[in-house]
Amino acid sequence: MRSILVTGGAGFIGSHTCLELLKNGYYLIVIDSYINSSPKIVQRLNSLFSGSRQSFKEQFKLIKGDIRDKILLESIFKDAINNKMPIEAVIHFAGLKSVEESVFNPSLYWEVNVGGSITLLRIMEQYNCRNIVFSSSATIYNCNCKSPLSEECEIKPINTYGQTKAAVENLLFSLYKNKRMDWRIINLRYFNPVGAHSSGMIGEDPRGEINNLFPYLNRVASGAIKELRIFGNNWPTLDGTGVRDYIHIMDLANAHYLALKYLLKKKNSGFLSLNIGTGKGTSVLELIKTYEEVNSCKIPFIFVDRRPGDVAISFAKNNLATSTLGWKPKRDLSDICRDGWKWEKLNPNGYT
Ligand code: NAD
Ligand code: UFG
Repeated sequence: MRSILVTGGAGFIGSHTCLELLKNGYYLIVIDSYINSSPKIVQRLNSLFSGSRQSFKEQFKLIKGDIRDKILLESIFKDAINNKMPIEAVIHFAGLKSVEESVFNPSLYWEVNVGGSITLLRIMEQYNCRNIVFSSSATIYNCNCKSPLSEECEIKPINTYGQTKAAVENLLFSLYKNKRMDWRIINLRYFNPVGAHSSGMIGEDPRGEINNLFPYLNRVASGAIKELRIFGNNWPTLDGTGVRDYIHIMDLANAHYLALKYLLKKKNSGFLSLNIGTGKGTSVLELIKTYEEVNSCKIPFIFVDRRPGDVAISFAKNNLATSTLGWKPKRDLSDICRDGWKWEKLNPNGYT
C-alpha cells in the first residue's frame, strides 16, 4: 500500500478526497487541527468505506495537529518510516479559506497558509518526500481576464487569501527549479467545489457565517434562513447574475486521485498547474432554478447590491487537466443540487 499524508483531510474537499483514495487502496495519514472541521468525519468515512482486503483502521489514521507544528510533522514522517510505510506523497489541503477574513486578518492567513506550507515543505525535504498535490484556487487569476480562464492567464490575486495561494505556488516553483527532477508538484486550481457525496453522509459543514452561495442555498431550502440575497442583478451576463463554474465535490475528489496517480507514476512529471472546473458557467438564477426543480422546493430570494471583489463571470478552460490526467467531470448541476440537499436534509446541524 502506498502511504500518503493528507493535510486538512477532515475538511470539505479533504474528506471527500480521502474517501476516493481509500477506495483506491491508499494508506492515509491525515493531519487536521479541526479549526474548520470535526473529528466525527472518521466515523462517517468508516461507514462509507467498503475496502475489499484491508480494514478501515489499516488504511486510515487521523492525527489532531497543526501543520505549523514542526515537531509533530517530524514525528509523523519518522513514525511512518519506522512502520515501514514511508510517506510517498502529500496532498496539502490544510489552510484558511475565507476571502473576507483574509482581508481583515492578513497576518493570520500568511502565517497559516504560507508559513504552514513552508514548515511542511521543509520537513518533506528532510524526509526525502518530494511529491505534492497542492490545493490552489482560481481566485489567483487576474480578475480582468476573460473566461474561459486557462492556466496561462496572468496570476494577479486581489485579496490576501488569493495572494497566499499564489505565494505557495511560487515557492513550489522555486523548489522545482532548484532541484530539477527531484520535486514533483501539481497545483490544482479549483473553481467552485459544491455538493456532497451521494450518500449524504459527508458534505460541507461551514462554521460561523456562511459566505458561499451553495451552503447558503441549502440553508434557505431547509428554512433555517428566510431568503437568499443575490449579489447584483446588473452584471454583464445573460440574466444579470454572477456566473461561476460549479464542480461536484466527488469529481474534484477524483481529480486528486488521478493527480496523485500521475505524480507517483510519471518519473519526470515536474511542475504542473491544472484548472479543475467543468468548463461550464452557471448563473446564480440558473443554479436556483435547477435546485428548485431537482428538489421540488422553492428558494425565496431578493436582489441586493453587488458584493465587493466579485467578478461577473468565472469558468475554467479545463483541457489541460482532462488531457493530462484523463479526468472528466461526470456529474452535472442536477447531481450537485440533489446530493447537496440530501446532505443538508440529513445533517441540518452539520457534524455536530
Ligand atoms: P475546509 O476548511 O473544509 O478544509 C481545510 C481543513 O484544514 C479543515 O479541516 C481545517 O480544520 C484544516 N486546517 C486549517 N488550518 C490548519 C492548520 N494550520 N493545521 C492543520 N489543519 C488545518 O476547506 P476546503 O473547502 O476543504 O478547502 C481545502 C483547501 O482547498 C484549502 O486550502 C482551500 O483554500 C482550498 N480551496 C478551496 C476552495 C473552496 O471553494 N472550497 C476553492 C479553492 C481552493
Ligand atoms: N452569491 C450570491 N449570494 C450569496 C453568495 C454568493 O448571490 O449569498 C453569488 C456571488 O456573487 C457569485 C456566486 O454567487 O456570483 C458564487 O459566489 P461564492 O461565494 O459561492 O463563490 P466565489 O466564486 O465568489 O468564490 C469561491 C470561493 C473562493 C475561491 C473561488 C474560486 O469562495 O475561495 O470560489 O475558486 F477562491
